[in-house]
Amino acid sequence: MKYRVPMTIESAEDFTAPADQSEMTEVITSTGSEWWRTAVIYQIYPRSFASSNGDGIGDLPGITSRLHSLSELGVDAVWLSPFFRSPQKDAGYDVSDYCDVDPMFGTLADFDTMVSTAHDLGLKVIVDMVPNHTSDQHVWFQEALAAPEGSPERDRYMFHDGKGPNGDIAPNNWESVFGGPMWERTTNPDGTPGQWYLHIFDVSQPDLNWENPWVREQFFGILRFWLDRGVDGFRVDVAHGMIKEEGLPDYTPPVEGASMGGTAAVGTDVDPDIVEAIQETPYWGHSGVHEIWREWNAVLAEYEGDRVMAAEAWVDPLEKMALWVRPDEFSQAFNFGYMFTEWTAATMRSIVDESIAAFSSVGAPSTWVLSNHDVVRHATRLALHVDVPQGAGIGPMTKGKPDTAEGLRRARAATSLMLSLPGSAYLYQGEELGLPEDMDLPDSARQDPTWFRTNHEKYGRDGCRVPIPWEADKPSYGFGPSAKSWLPQPADWGPYARDAQEGVAGSTLELYRSALALRAEHNLGSGTVEWIDGYGPDVLALRNGAVTVIVNFGAVAVELPLDDLLLASDGIVGGALPADTAVWLRS
Ligand code: GLC
Repeated sequence: MKYRVPMTIESAEDFTAPADQSEMTEVITSTGSEWWRTAVIYQIYPRSFASSNGDGIGDLPGITSRLHSLSELGVDAVWLSPFFRSPQKDAGYDVSDYCDVDPMFGTLADFDTMVSTAHDLGLKVIVDMVPNHTSDQHVWFQEALAAPEGSPERDRYMFHDGKGPNGDIAPNNWESVFGGPMWERTTNPDGTPGQWYLHIFDVSQPDLNWENPWVREQFFGILRFWLDRGVDGFRVDVAHGMIKEEGLPDYTPPVEGASMGGTAAVGTDVDPDIVEAIQETPYWGHSGVHEIWREWNAVLAEYEGDRVMAAEAWVDPLEKMALWVRPDEFSQAFNFGYMFTEWTAATMRSIVDESIAAFSSVGAPSTWVLSNHDVVRHATRLALHVDVPQGAGIGPMTKGKPDTAEGLRRARAATSLMLSLPGSAYLYQGEELGLPEDMDLPDSARQDPTWFRTNHEKYGRDGCRVPIPWEADKPSYGFGPSAKSWLPQPADWGPYARDAQEGVAGSTLELYRSALALRAEHNLGSGTVEWIDGYGPDVLALRNGAVTVIVNFGAVAVELPLDDLLLASDGIVGGALPADTAVWLRS
């Protein structure tokens, strides 16, 4: 059964899911060769991947030198977090020149070499586009500050007068995702207090005014600049935030952690009042953004081949997120609902069904993702015994710290399940090594603006950004040619190093490699999910073509026929599937 919906859906209200849930698991596949529909995409966080010069910060030549290890791993594409010119107030998500490489990461020539090396290895390259805001050091913002109120330069951003007789009260009560107010007051050239500007994130990241056609025009040029250099697509940052509700009304988030757009409430078991409130957030998920994505889609379509556009859109529920991936908008969107689903058989089954139903209803593939540079690594998160709101991070004082072995065991099972699903999957650098979150970073090393803007109340995201280990016995574990590393690496990371796992049966690296090879061999990315019942409430079993996947989410081993084993996320003893373990069997 294939689903088609009118291409004219304008809002979540217009969306009607097929009534029969059992029919929802079939993905609509395109007739074109849209590689991204089934691709496994590996996220490179450039500053923490590999350093070529030993300055402690990863760079483009470092990436180029290690790309072969990613093609050996078996991924289809890489997505690079920002490497553009930037004062690095938010690790590069504060861009001061969209058409140049920050000297910290190399040069445009280094970028070209990286792209051609990737292409030679058969890897596609996706770059990060950050359109919601620029750096305050961007020339557009500097010109806006220098220009008078009401000028075209000011209209590029969201400048507003303050409230109160002296204009010294912020235009509204919105709170920045990183903590503190979402408004900053400027100072006029004569030293008097001036207008306020909006910044959803750090004070150094002023929001652009996407109602202004001039802003839209600039980004068409920026997209073409990178497409001309051969990129295969874009991951678009904060794709749900660019249009704000008219009149900028006051707003109070219903739950802590909802600031990214509802992540604290994403999931299958959510209070409907909370979801309702999140949908109405005046700066997230406004339907005005869709026009922008149609325009961007048209720019990509000017180029030969299949270019991908992936949305970072923290939007709930999934039916609403599906609106971002209608055929003339994004190709795909990160499935954050899946990322934050509780580790139980029932919740996982529902989210897989709901995801496939929602995305396939508009002809898009579902994506699956467990980790990225903004969240606690899943080898830690899946064994946390406390709720940690998105962005809060964990650190030395966090209560309910996870057991590392339990976390890794669950992570390996979770990844094995994820890589068996139809659609596209995202991996975050280091997860193939089983890396946990670094929970013991010294406070003095922290760099995430969240840590500073919340007066050290929230640890932020540094714990998932520590440079990754390549060689157990080298300084900085081979991250670079010196011992330097912009965030200190834990002393006990040697066993996680790539060279300590290469060719070692049962290592996390070899598990990922086998899963990726089997996924490709059996075309699981373009398959379907057929649930198999009867193994009890803690066991999830599905058939995707020639492969049967069984996952035991429970605390005790389950007796099962385990013939024709293709893959096991951990050791199998006798004829029983241990707790927190997944297997792939020949169907
Ligand atoms: C996105 C990025 C995050 C960044 C924020 C502001 O959520 O993933 O790292 O801090 O946007 O650009």
